[in-house]
Amino acid sequence: MNIGVVGMGFVGSVTAAVLADQGNAIIALDIDSEKIGRFNSGDIPIFEPGLKDLILKNKRNLKFTTDYKMLKGSEIIFVAVPTPNLNGKINLDYVYKAIDSIKSVNNDAIIVIKSTVVPGTGSKIKDEFNVKIVSNPEFLREGNAIDDTIHPDRVIVGGEEEYAEKVASIWKFTNAPILITTRENAELIKYASNSFLATKISFINEIANLCEKIPNSDVETVAKGMGYDRRIGPLFLKAGIGYGGSCFPKDTEAFLTYAEELGEELKIIKAAKKTNEDRIDRIIYILKKKFVEIKGLKILQLGVSFKENTNDLRESQALKLYRSLIENGADVVVFDPVNAVEGINFCGNLNDCLNGVDAIVVATEWPEFKKIEDMNIKVPLIDGRRILNPERFEEYIGIGRYCSD
Ligand code: UDX
Repeated sequence: MNIGVVGMGFVGSVTAAVLADQGNAIIALDIDSEKIGRFNSGDIPIFEPGLKDLILKNKRNLKFTTDYKMLKGSEIIFVAVPTPNLNGKINLDYVYKAIDSIKSVNNDAIIVIKSTVVPGTGSKIKDEFNVKIVSNPEFLREGNAIDDTIHPDRVIVGGEEEYAEKVASIWKFTNAPILITTRENAELIKYASNSFLATKISFINEIANLCEKIPNSDVETVAKGMGYDRRIGPLFLKAGIGYGGSCFPKDTEAFLTYAEELGEELKIIKAAKKTNEDRIDRIIYILKKKFVEIKGLKILQLGVSFKENTNDLRESQALKLYRSLIENGADVVVFDPVNAVEGINFCGNLNDCLNGVDAIVVATEWPEFKKIEDMNIKVPLIDGRRILNPERFEEYIGIGRYCSD
């Protein structure tokens, strides 16, 4: 099928590459000419395991362009542009601009909204622009995006049956359950899912706080025991310094504002957001309990991205922690396998980073950090992600693990 994809961010580029690999002819568009230049030269500007190889393998089926006229022959056009928040409310400007540009060159294509948009957006666009609109929300995780796209848990398609069926047919190869429904339900499923997962994380983080005060308790074992119950499930019950990234913080906030405008308060999601915001202070509290004063402490922070296997810093709790430690007067040095952000004190070699530090804080789940278990660490280590073996350290303080005063 001739397919267009508008927006070569993370979701758009993965969608384009996977659909090209399935034999579709893809026009991949972005308004950023520098970005398109990099895609064309093979210098892929998105850090995602396997993406570069998949793009290079399917070069023949993938045309990168900034020119909307190239979308003239597309039967289906995906829109995967950002929907950032502005003062807590979703900003749909990029979506509207993309739809407007598509309509000026192609009035027949089915336009599929992959971007996360609040319920009602697709139908509003359909009425305003008189175009065929289908909602097909995205559930992929960074670092696992290609596999999540090829093997999703489900495919959700919302819109008029004839158009929705056609869009669904593109995803048949995944063998995943496909739910065809209204646009509003599809849009809502995305927000409800992300908010539920964010809530699950905040829930276990509160249990972690409790475990720190109960002798002989450990949140890792509590989560394991809970996870055996199939009604609960083991995933997204990993306690830590909280969730970040391009989706959970933004989507929960936009969802809360959207619901408020409808006169509904989403109390549980509001609490999940607050609990997440408090995670940074929890690390500060743990450090103060140990050292009394943070001012003047030399701290090595491991990790700055919002999670492992990515250089993405959007809404990163690790970055927030770094700033908070600095504000509290600590002298912080950061080791991260892929990031080097301006203004942050990075060191490139883990061995050198350890020189003269008073404490170590693990802020991201990079598997590389396991190496530190063999480095004979003598200073207190605060494991903010519970990835290390306590036995390997002289003084190990883990999130959600009992710690005597
Ligand atoms: C998420 C959703 O999983 C995905 O379905 C949606 O499309 C986009 O948002 P992503 O942001 O890539 O994906 O990351 P994810 O792996 O879900 O992790 C999000 C954050 O939660 C990370 O900061 C991670 O460290 C944290 N997390 C995750 C926990 O603290 N505990 C967990 O148990 C799981």
